Amino acid sequence: ESHFSYRNGSLHVEELPLATIAERFGTPCYVYSRAALTAAYNDYRRVLHSAQGHDALICYAVKANSNLAILNLFARLGAGFDIVSGGELSRVLAAGGDPAKTVFSGVGKSRAEIEQALHAGIRCFNVESASELERIDEIAGRLRLKAPISLRVNPDVDPKTHPYISTGLKNNKFGVSFADALPLYRRARDLPNLVILGIDCHIGSQLLDPAPATEAAEKILGLVDTLAAEGIVLSHIDLGGGLGIRYRDETVPTTDEYLAPILALLKGRTEKLLVEPGRSLVGNAGLLLTRVEITKQGSEKNFAVIDAAMNDLMRPALYDAWHDILPVQERPETASSNWEIVGPICESGDFLGRERPLALQEGDLLAILSAGAYGMTMSSNYNSRPRAAEVMVDGDRMHLVRQREEIATLYAGETLLP
Ligand code: LLP
Repeated sequence: ESHFSYRNGSLHVEELPLATIAERFGTPCYVYSRAALTAAYNDYRRVLHSAQGHDALICYAVKANSNLAILNLFARLGAGFDIVSGGELSRVLAAGGDPAKTVFSGVGKSRAEIEQALHAGIRCFNVESASELERIDEIAGRLRLKAPISLRVNPDVDPKTHPYISTGLKNNKFGVSFADALPLYRRARDLPNLVILGIDCHIGSQLLDPAPATEAAEKILGLVDTLAAEGIVLSHIDLGGGLGIRYRDETVPTTDEYLAPILALLKGRTEKLLVEPGRSLVGNAGLLLTRVEITKQGSEKNFAVIDAAMNDLMRPALYDAWHDILPVQERPETASSNWEIVGPICESGDFLGRERPLALQEGDLLAILSAGAYGMTMSSNYNSRPRAAEVMVDGDRMHLVRQREEIATLYAGETLLP
């Protein structure tokens, strides 16, 4: 069932017309569906807690969308969190998230961030290097605390996704190599202020094939058994995030198809399973609502200049990503033509869609779909554009969950020279 649908030619989110949201809060504006977010989370929960399931914790990857309302919604549904910075930890806490269900990933955790996380009492550090291991031990010792850790191990499998978002191959900066894992675990065992809790891996994002994730899980489980033979017994296995979503016409594995082979591998094992989904929980639960400001006929192309831009949704410019673009009001009587959907920013890369067949006019509202993940969180203030508002729809109600940024806020921390 879709949470975004046309009713009498007008695009709705749940029970609410998008036109109403634009009228009330203006554009550009991110719009999320509470029901869609809940359904995506419950889908994971259903599979993980099914008969074939396993003791599991869903640690939502905050980087995909860190709005407090979304974090709070997932926290209320029982989720844990995967964070990559002190900023994300602060958000989780502000949203009522449970630090004891929070894991901390990332290759460059600062001393201050490690301290903050130790004080907060997070569940586990996903350690990505030998230096980080020593650093965490030293800081924990100074604070007279024990630091729970797991090592992020690179299983060296090809996730077959965009090179910018594939992370599990040998030649990238993430995790420690498979060969280094065993000596590092031994080192961790000898460090006085660490508690070895688990193992972690994450091979990439927007995965459309379940096979690489299963292969990674197999390799990781082999290592878990090797460790156990040495007396290093782990209590959880974190397999990261990565399940893709449909942006255009991709065939996407269902949550069942993606997790079933992994759950089969875990059958009879006692370690808790952790997963870190981001995109698959929020991506298709949000859209970017925008208005056509200007239409212009170039010599070869028609341009529709909208009030959203690459600073609001960077994925097309950065990855050449394709997002569906729908008219908020259908115009069945108008012939459609091909449009370049571009923003007002001074860059040729500032496009949201290319050669889109649409019937549109100045003033029309458009919805850029699948924008719930890595949309708002990757936005910037380039061209001194204030960040968009964010609205959560719940049935026929709407809640402003982030107000449109004020221009004065953009330079509030800046000063003139004396
Ligand atoms: N865990 C770790 C350690 C990660 O690095 C990531 C994403 C996730 C979990 C969540 O992965 P997901 O379930 O969302 O695939 N900006 C890019 C995506 C970058 C993903 C980075 N890491 C995009 O817009 O496509």
